[in-house]
Amino acid sequence: MPGAVSRDRRHFLTASAAVLGAAASAQLWLPGTARAAETPLPDGVFSLGVASGDPLPDAVVLWTRLAPDPLNGGGMPDRVVPVEWEIAEDARFGKPVRRGTAQARPEYGHSVHVDVRGLRPDRVYWYRFRVDGQLSRTGRTRTAPPPSRAGGSLRVALASCQNWQNGYFTPYADMLGQDPDVVLFVGDYIYESSPSATAVRRHEGTGEPYTLVQYRNRYAQYRSDPHLAAMHANAPWVVTFDDHEVDNDFAGEIPQDPDKQSHDAFTARLTAAYQAYYEHMPVRAAAIPDGPHIRMYRRLDFGRLARLNVLDTRQFRSDQATGQDGAQDPSLTMLGAAQKDWLLHGLRHSPTRWNLIASQIMMAETDLKVGEGKLWYYDAWDGYQAERNALMGEFAGIRNPVVLSGDRHLTMISDLKADFADPDSDTVGAEFVGTSISSGGDQDQSAFHKEWDARMPDNPHWKFIDAHRGYHLFDIRRDGIDAQVRVAETVLSPDASSSALARLRVEAGEPGVRLV
Ligand SMILES: [Fe+2]
Repeated sequence: MPGAVSRDRRHFLTASAAVLGAAASAQLWLPGTARAAETPLPDGVFSLGVASGDPLPDAVVLWTRLAPDPLNGGGMPDRVVPVEWEIAEDARFGKPVRRGTAQARPEYGHSVHVDVRGLRPDRVYWYRFRVDGQLSRTGRTRTAPPPSRAGGSLRVALASCQNWQNGYFTPYADMLGQDPDVVLFVGDYIYESSPSATAVRRHEGTGEPYTLVQYRNRYAQYRSDPHLAAMHANAPWVVTFDDHEVDNDFAGEIPQDPDKQSHDAFTARLTAAYQAYYEHMPVRAAAIPDGPHIRMYRRLDFGRLARLNVLDTRQFRSDQATGQDGAQDPSLTMLGAAQKDWLLHGLRHSPTRWNLIASQIMMAETDLKVGEGKLWYYDAWDGYQAERNALMGEFAGIRNPVVLSGDRHLTMISDLKADFADPDSDTVGAEFVGTSISSGGDQDQSAFHKEWDARMPDNPHWKFIDAHRGYHLFDIRRDGIDAQVRVAETVLSPDASSSALARLRVEAGEPGVRLV
């Protein structure tokens, strides 16, 4: 049973933390303290950088993966390698607070996930790794506020959709300067598409990834973008995946093209894709995959200010509808029964002022048909309307729900309606669809507005739409959320500047969003 193995591995991977004694602090990392007896490792084991994620008031996950030959499977010897880690209150490691040794195991691509506990709430920390005399870059992270704190502020950056072949990850340079407390990434971290000779920069490999090594190489290539690597090293991330981490538009164990990928072949692909996803993301051991299954839905609280419910809208969904009637079929589910119960419980019993829901895909209606009648995207929540509409009913009874989404490669900022068929129905929340980091590349803005502005009268809940590349930035306080749509001039240059294209506000106690 894979489950039994996973439990053992979970135990193993979480059992490596050590508390620093006061006397140990001056003696840290003397030369050769943990040098392996085997032949030395190749140079450049920390080519993929460092990352942190899923901050709690007393804990954060620290990540790295040893890969001296990142685009060719990693290049590590086939043995377990001990990796030293330390975390400190200052960037020069003069005030270390914890250290330990984690095991980089070949069956996990020599990735390291350290779930450091015993930290202080709402604090910035610095961390680094060392192995065989090689030192990683220094990462910076921060813990969540204490559970009792009602006030304060939280700065969240919302990102999604970074297609390597469509452009540089330029918007992260601006995000770095904005210094968010946490980065929320809602899917399409990699794209599984084949290399294109005409791309701005070309995918590695010779085709789509199917095997574990192929997915590892793809993640490694993405991590080589210096802006992405710097952003990972500067703030904790909270991540979830969408379809392109596996296969375009897949649903559960059903691929995009079931006639071309058998069920067995696709579950093998899911197994490889989820494994590589876990190996490259700063997530807890709860996310260690069990074959073709991975647990990604989870929630994180930031004091009594904000609860973040992170959804998985891929793994448990029914297959997509193929027509307007199907989209309204009440038997279709987006979340699956267990996740839906979990979400509703978390919303109804939330202790926080704001209830954020990270959904990979857009929740508000998109009526594509100008004039009479409707036409929806069936891969988004519009294709699962009965469940979406029931959720809108729930939103009416909870405190300040705000949905943060991706997938669309557009900025779409909307009121959420009790009944999208009735524009006069109550507004029950707000949604931000956070454009894309690079996917879609630079757009012809006037062509976009010509096509999409015509749809505005059919979608009166849309408050702002745009087709620049970038991300959204939120300053969350008790009285309201101030949001910025921050966009890059171009993603054809890694050095282009970014600016605030629009500013919006969500007022606490007043569902909906407005331009300011
Ligand atoms: Fe995407």
